[in-house]
Amino acid sequence: MPSFKVIEQAILKREHLFTSTQTNAFRLFNSAGDNCEGLIIDYYNGFVLLQLYDSSLYQDYSKICNDCKQILSSSHIPVNGILLKDRTKVNDPQQIAKLRTSILVDGEMPPENFAIKQNNIIAYVDLIQGQNTGVFLDMRKVRETMVKYYHNGGRLCNLFCYTGLFSVHALKNGLQYAVNVDISQTVLNRAKQNYVLNDIQYDSRDFIKLDCRQYLKKQIKQKVHFDFVIFDPPTFSRNKKQNFSVKTHYRDYLALIEHITKDGYALTTINAVSMSVRDYRSLHPQHWKLEFLEHEPEDFPYKSQPYLKAGLWKIP
Ligand SMILES: C[S@@+](CC[C@H](N)C(=O)[O-])C[C@H]1O[C@@H](n2cnc3c(N)ncnc32)[C@H](O)[C@@H]1O
Repeated sequence: MPSFKVIEQAILKREHLFTSTQTNAFRLFNSAGDNCEGLIIDYYNGFVLLQLYDSSLYQDYSKICNDCKQILSSSHIPVNGILLKDRTKVNDPQQIAKLRTSILVDGEMPPENFAIKQNNIIAYVDLIQGQNTGVFLDMRKVRETMVKYYHNGGRLCNLFCYTGLFSVHALKNGLQYAVNVDISQTVLNRAKQNYVLNDIQYDSRDFIKLDCRQYLKKQIKQKVHFDFVIFDPPTFSRNKKQNFSVKTHYRDYLALIEHITKDGYALTTINAVSMSVRDYRSLHPQHWKLEFLEHEPEDFPYKSQPYLKAGLWKIP
């Protein structure tokens, strides 16, 4: 069980993040990186989400919750509610939706259409249903570093787009056009809502429900060109016949991306501790030039090596 001191140290280390005018959602406690394997605590614009990846932490959750409340209130940080999500391994797929539904442990539930701010863009988040909330908090630094590349404008293809936040951020920072591709209609609908929330006009053709490989092949055939491609795939996913795994498919995807991004940029990511920076780099063609390589931001400290490898590559 994490002591009061361990939680306090983690939260106080991040106190400066609460003064940001651009971002009001970030990590307060990052598992082993903050000295308690299996415990994640995130702050979302006045709400705290505790996630337990280790069932042995269950007996302590109300103490963890009280510690958080006390530490945050002595720093005058508002906490309207604290929720708890079970992230322990689930063997029965039938049970997953129920188990991943958060429960309220203190205060009130977030309001309907609850939104947060990250890098000065607004995003709806769902702290209750499902595994992910709608925003990946670890992408903050990557998005920030991308800003200067967007200033000259251009067209973006956002593969595996999820709730569309790379596109919203790019369009708010200089790009003129973005297309969002994902296999899930549910996330595409959420991406459209994020466009509206950020006052961005859209056309239904900007949201494509398709396997990303099929989409890329179609664009190559039609000789479509993009200035930027975001390639931020899951480490592994299975959707009907369209499986994706970094191990087997990454290089093939990069080859397809090259066809539609000549003289442009590809932001490619891998989020897995098992993949080293060296492995990540070696997946890319030799003639691509690395512009920058980013990892998780400061609120995601790690023990041995970073999870996130995100590089922007110039494609000749
Ligand atoms: C890790 S998320 C991407 C995160 C996103 N780039 C962001 O920053 O918010 C993975 C997404 O890939 C989608 N996905 C998985 N397999 C796919 C496939 N074969 N084709 C298209 N989308 C897929 C999932 O529906 C999910 O929305």
